Amino acid sequence: MSTVKTYRDPAALADAAARQVIAITREAIAERGQATLALSGGSTPRLLYARLAQDDLAAQLDWAAIHVFWGDERPVPPEHEDSNYRMAWEAWLSRVPIPAQNVHRMHGEMAPAAAAAEYEGMLRTFFAARIRRGDALTAAFDLVLLGMGEDGHTASLFPGAEAIREAKRWVTAYQVDKLASWRISLTPAALNAARHILFLVSGASKAGRLQQVLYGTYQPDRLPAQIIRPMRGSLLWMVDEAAAGRGGPA
Ligand code: 6PG
Repeated sequence: MSTVKTYRDPAALADAAARQVIAITREAIAERGQATLALSGGSTPRLLYARLAQDDLAAQLDWAAIHVFWGDERPVPPEHEDSNYRMAWEAWLSRVPIPAQNVHRMHGEMAPAAAAAEYEGMLRTFFAARIRRGDALTAAFDLVLLGMGEDGHTASLFPGAEAIREAKRWVTAYQVDKLASWRISLTPAALNAARHILFLVSGASKAGRLQQVLYGTYQPDRLPAQIIRPMRGSLLWMVDEAAAGRGGPA
């Protein structure tokens, strides 16, 4: 089931999203001893990460019990300005006491196909260990954070990509024609297994596309964000008024 909640501006959206992340993370730790989060890149989550780094919220989490992963990555080393890992690290993770071994980045500096295979292997090993210990019944992130691009892409699932229909593999790498660049991305098979999925969308430039994705004809090959339909979990869209088409800052 999907729900849409609208917030006044990007700062209000980031604050509400941060509280949602805290609630889901705490619940996962209370119920299963660990929380697994998959992060997104992009400008919208940067404000969320900055909010999560602030003391009042950071103090609410048991950092040793949190494992952080990424939903997608660009083909760059971790220190590169385009790196999704670097963004989350600088805005959030470097500012909180998360153990280094709990931060599981995609290796954008490797050949993309090898990086995708490596990440998938790491994820399968990680979740298999949890299942063996009885901490989890299925391989599923507790929380997946996603953004949506103006063309309707999410994670690095771009319009027309075969990856949108990937049903078996959890991680894929392919060349995105419109970017003339490789991307590494979790697939719908991995994303839709999550217990909670949170989409953050902000800005007037996304208003038309958001309406199509939410209320238009189902055509995920053209609007990849529509492929996000959790198998068992919840789907919450958190958007600002501008993205909801109610004016406000772009
Ligand atoms: C990335 C992303 C991507 C992003 C959207 C929205 O690596 O760019 O993970 O899917 O979430 O493009 O990004 P903005 O919030 O910057 O518009």
